[in-house]
Amino acid sequence: MKDMGEELPKGIALTVLDEHYKSNPYAILERIRQTTPLHHDDELNQYIATRHDDVKLILRDKDYWSDPRKGKQGSFIYELLGGANKEEEPSMLLMDEPNHKRLRSLVSKPFMPSAVEKWRPRTQQVVKRILDSICEPEFDLIKAFANPIPTVVIAELLGIDASHHDNFKVWSDQSVKTAFSPFPDPEDLRVAEVAQRKLDDFFLKEIEARRKHLGDDLLSDLIRAEEEGDKLSQHELILQCNLMLIAGNVTTTDLIGNGMKALLDNPQQLQLLKDNPSFIKNAVEEILRFESPVLNSARIPNRDTDVQGCPIGTGESLIVSLASANRDPEVYPDPDRFDIEREDTHHQSFGGGRHMCLGAHLARLEAQEAILAIITRFPNITHSEKGLVRATVPSFRGMESFWVTT
Ligand code: HEM
Repeated sequence: MKDMGEELPKGIALTVLDEHYKSNPYAILERIRQTTPLHHDDELNQYIATRHDDVKLILRDKDYWSDPRKGKQGSFIYELLGGANKEEEPSMLLMDEPNHKRLRSLVSKPFMPSAVEKWRPRTQQVVKRILDSICEPEFDLIKAFANPIPTVVIAELLGIDASHHDNFKVWSDQSVKTAFSPFPDPEDLRVAEVAQRKLDDFFLKEIEARRKHLGDDLLSDLIRAEEEGDKLSQHELILQCNLMLIAGNVTTTDLIGNGMKALLDNPQQLQLLKDNPSFIKNAVEEILRFESPVLNSARIPNRDTDVQGCPIGTGESLIVSLASANRDPEVYPDPDRFDIEREDTHHQSFGGGRHMCLGAHLARLEAQEAILAIITRFPNITHSEKGLVRATVPSFRGMESFWVTT
């Protein structure tokens, strides 16, 4: 296997800021996957693994770090995710042991499948309310449906009063826009900082109110959470609330939007689902495989190592392409075919190992309820001539708008 890195795309061409990559990342990822197990992008100073088995192993390998402060100065993760900021402990996603283990065990209970299942009726109500608000026969499915669902669900689960939902959504959207962008717009950055401050103040007030009256909501669950006498501090609670927004909103919106697009692009599959609503769980897994809402995750080797014989040094940035792993023909026959009856729907879209997505069950539940409800409410739903616009949030695959008619 020869690394023909020179000829492979690099830098911005490997992000959704590039038009080719944005419209079809899979063709570009396939070229890389066929050429080398480890592509070195010397423009952004990152290494990229694209093959399914390598991605799966790296995500689960305990000998990789996630904390950008341990990265090599100048490497992609160090520069993008604030490696120079030695003072502040990063959020859980970027934390290493032992701190990650402590935090994860404190917050994980409310996200277990059985705990999440209790939110299904409330999620159904949110979805119904949002569907009731759609009055036009032609509408933007992202703006009117996929976008509000995750924020309203998480706001409801946290016990936030409905009168604050609109503000909450605006701040959350603004704060996430620049979160993973290698080339953030300075004005977006300024807006994100202001939104972040407003969110932090808001969460602080909510936490203070809950401490006085604990209730039957997720924020109260997190305040109650206690492991062997240990509890979350005020600062940790605020960080955790923010992480749920950053990690859970755009991603779940994209899952619902990508899923509806895949179904409308494949009318026989849509019909199959309408005829067999019980296929919804498998359908959502296939959507996750087929159009991973998160394109990449990342790790930092804690030693000089290699991926299939291609060397990578301690502290370098190792990007794992979840989208590419999910379309690897070595694992998925005919990977570009969308098939809700597929048996091999296991995917890497929620990452893996100790950082495996905490909100995976919640995201699945929301997508299952949202997709079933909208195809039931609008049995003739189809593409509108107004088309779609793809989103440009780096590392995410989704749409800014997607017009449908009913
Ligand atoms: C379709 C929706 C979602 C997708 C595709 C997704 C994907 C991911 C991915 C790829 C990771 C990194 C895993 C790794 O590097 O191994 C992650 C981590 C995380 N996600 Fe999600 N996510 C989704 C929804 C959510 C939701 C709804 C929440 C919470 C409300 C959430 C909370 C988190 C948290 C807290 C982490 C960090 C976990 C840790 O570091 O231990 N995610 N997610």
